[in-house]
Amino acid sequence: MKRNAISTLLGTDLVGETVTVCGWVRTFRNDQFLSINDGSSLSNLQLVIDRESTDEGVRKRLTTGAAVCAVGQLVESQGKGQATELEVAQLEVLGDADPEVYPIQMKRHTMEFLREKAHLRFRTSTFNAVFRLRHGLQYAIHEYFEKNGFYMLHTPIVTGSDAEGAGEMFQVTTLDLGNVPKTEEGEVDHSEDFFAKPTNLTVSGQLEAELGAMALGKVYTFGPTFRAENSNTSRHLAEFWMIEPEVAFNDLVDNMDLAEDCLRFVLNRVLEQYPAELEFLAKREADAEKQLPADQRNEMGLIERLRFVTETPFIRLTYTEAIDLLRNSKPFKKKKFKYPVEWGIDLQSEHERWLVEKHFKQPVILTDYPAQIKAFYMRSNDDGKTVAAMDVLVPGIGELVGGSQREERLEMLQKKCAEFDIPEEHVWWYLDTRRFGTAPHAGFGMGFERLVMFATGMTNIRDVIPFPRTPQNAEF
Ligand code: 4AD
Ligand code: MG
Repeated sequence: MKRNAISTLLGTDLVGETVTVCGWVRTFRNDQFLSINDGSSLSNLQLVIDRESTDEGVRKRLTTGAAVCAVGQLVESQGKGQATELEVAQLEVLGDADPEVYPIQMKRHTMEFLREKAHLRFRTSTFNAVFRLRHGLQYAIHEYFEKNGFYMLHTPIVTGSDAEGAGEMFQVTTLDLGNVPKTEEGEVDHSEDFFAKPTNLTVSGQLEAELGAMALGKVYTFGPTFRAENSNTSRHLAEFWMIEPEVAFNDLVDNMDLAEDCLRFVLNRVLEQYPAELEFLAKREADAEKQLPADQRNEMGLIERLRFVTETPFIRLTYTEAIDLLRNSKPFKKKKFKYPVEWGIDLQSEHERWLVEKHFKQPVILTDYPAQIKAFYMRSNDDGKTVAAMDVLVPGIGELVGGSQREERLEMLQKKCAEFDIPEEHVWWYLDTRRFGTAPHAGFGMGFERLVMFATGMTNIRDVIPFPRTPQNAEF
């Protein structure tokens, strides 16, 4: 059926024309004004219904959530709040939504309630805006890399390796779990498994991206990643999407520059292309924050915050400097931190938040972390204690990006494998790139959902992915 997207009817270009629109009812007022949305815009189109020519039976079915199709003339609107409206000549209800049972009504629903109705929450303005922005961000990411000479590489989802060495993997097997074949030693006999070896869902495409970078120069992968970490926080998912660029001949400084530039580009893009969605979400955030104590509110509104990030160079400091700052901080001296602060610890969320939200009040890149708290592939620094790692921390989110310069020296990498208990025969292909034409290179991973959180002001990661996977939850 030929029809017009509502986005094309909100301006006055087509005034006077007869058009067809289809969408879902948001509201029906005074038995006359029907507001519908078709997903093409955050805004609804107002349909004016003629009581005489529209059957009462049809009018009764115009309840929130019902699907309708209408034909009529587009006219300039008499009312405030919209430029145009549709004078309905014909109206058909395609699908009813019984108001007694349809859960998404035109009132404020909590995010928790809507999470349980994730199959229907797209129909609210908030999720309409969030998912439109999510789309815009992923498109801008591809645009950024395309413009900068990168090749997108599809890295495997099923793999035999644990790139991060954290052991948080979902196993992949076709073995019958009720009757697992065993070896003589009593261990699971993976020779009978589909891949004839243990495999898992990938935690990161980095190792394979590195292989590509050693010939294509600049590559990135943007795929789903899976982590079976049992952390029920507002910033962790078991299935999330990650953007991982990898660049031959880049060092840590180039890597930081790339992360900053990429972030700035994508935020600028959505500021340009999604002003209505951002304004809507900014207002939503401001309303939600009225319930919070003053010290938990954002000092800047959403749009101001995004602009600020696009205009201000990030603070760069070493992990060691950050530890010094933390140990001299008020909360440390007053014993307000729950976790200890000393050189060698993995920074906790409370420490990261103090640095970016209280101390610097802007994004921060921390570098040169202790080797023992970072992955095996990071390049050792000359001090013998730290590695060329970088984490980008942003207000409200904490860690948005994690990356490093990679260890390109074969012997150093072999030493790291031994220290981290990684058998060389498991990563022979990775080590081969250090045997043949090895070169300095660097890359990072940006958590896509954390980026969407940052750009939308949503405070729970479950609300920026259509169907979140978290411990004990894989509904839909
Ligand atoms: O710091 P991570 O673990 O780094 C890596 O996986 C590297 N291999 C990336 C690379 O250098 N190519 O993860 C990178 C980012 C984090 O900074 C965070 O934004 C996001 O991925 N992330 C998660 N997002 C949602 N849920 C989780 N459970 C996440 N774990 C990491
Ligand atoms: Mg990390």
